[in-house]
Amino acid sequence: MSNGNGDNQGVVTKDDGVVVLKNVVKKFGENVVLKDVSLAIEKGKTTVIIGPSGCGKTVLLKHLILLLRPTVGEVYFKGERIDEFNEHDLDKIRTNYGFLFQGGALFDSLSVAENVLFPVRQHYKITSKSGIDELVRTKLAMVGLDGFQNYYPGNLSGGQRKRVALARAIALNPEVILYDEPTTGLDPIRADIINELILKMQRGLGLTSVVVTHDMTSAYKIADRIIMLHEGKIYADGDAEHIRNHPNQIVQQFINGRVSDDDLEVLRMSGTISRSEFEPLDLEE
Ligand SMILES: Nc1ncnc2c1ncn2[C@@H]1O[C@H](COP(=O)(O)OP(=O)(O)OP(=O)(O)O)[C@@H](O)[C@H]1O
Ligand SMILES: [Mg+2]
Repeated sequence: MSNGNGDNQGVVTKDDGVVVLKNVVKKFGENVVLKDVSLAIEKGKTTVIIGPSGCGKTVLLKHLILLLRPTVGEVYFKGERIDEFNEHDLDKIRTNYGFLFQGGALFDSLSVAENVLFPVRQHYKITSKSGIDELVRTKLAMVGLDGFQNYYPGNLSGGQRKRVALARAIALNPEVILYDEPTTGLDPIRADIINELILKMQRGLGLTSVVVTHDMTSAYKIADRIIMLHEGKIYADGDAEHIRNHPNQIVQQFINGRVSDDDLEVLRMSGTISRSEFEPLDLEE
């Protein structure tokens, strides 16, 4: 189905995707972050989520893995309703996911190898040293960092740290990987290495990916489908071409990084800045 702008419409059933959100509402106190989000994540595809800062992208991503529970609505994994599972049962479901958190935080006190192994140790009792060495080696090789096993995060560049975080995200051979801002803070070349790795995971291993990003170059390159979240709802939904040519002005302003007239008005109302306000301060110590 399609609305007037040609977007996919949010009518989903539990079997429409690997992960399905159905009529999800999320409130934090009075703050309604997700108003009524229905979304089916298609198997083997890369779904990219865009939208202004604070619009709820991370909150949406966390619902896909039940790190947050909906206030209202349902979440399904492979047709099974999981939002009412207890933490123990959810932990089992979560072994099907890899998650690259915003900021890609590694444990600074652990070596690269131990960082990659972290999710494995959480879920399994490790008995064979040679088995785990091989697991770490293959995962690091996939991100081009075999040989860095004994490094510590403090000795790696930002791009290398993201790649280690990606190796950690795939440590349990997940079917679904969730990436929260994987290219933020990287220069365009390093960002493109991450894009290539996301594509490699999807094309080479058939993984299902959901990527939250502000980076439209990245979005256009990796997405099978782009979803724009705005004011708690899915505002636009389609392939890269569709989003690029979207008729809605708010979508165009967002993807082209233009400030809206309303926002400009707020800036104008904040008054002018005079040079005298920037003189050295003469304060008593
Ligand atoms: N655990 C929480 N408790 C209360 N409020 C929260 C919580 N997590 C998120 N929020 C609120 O939900 C809203 C959406 O936050 P979210 O982190 O999803 O935004 P975002 O779109 O990911 O932004 P950014 O692009 O800056 O990462 C914000 O108003 C935030 O304050
Ligand atoms: Mg976020």
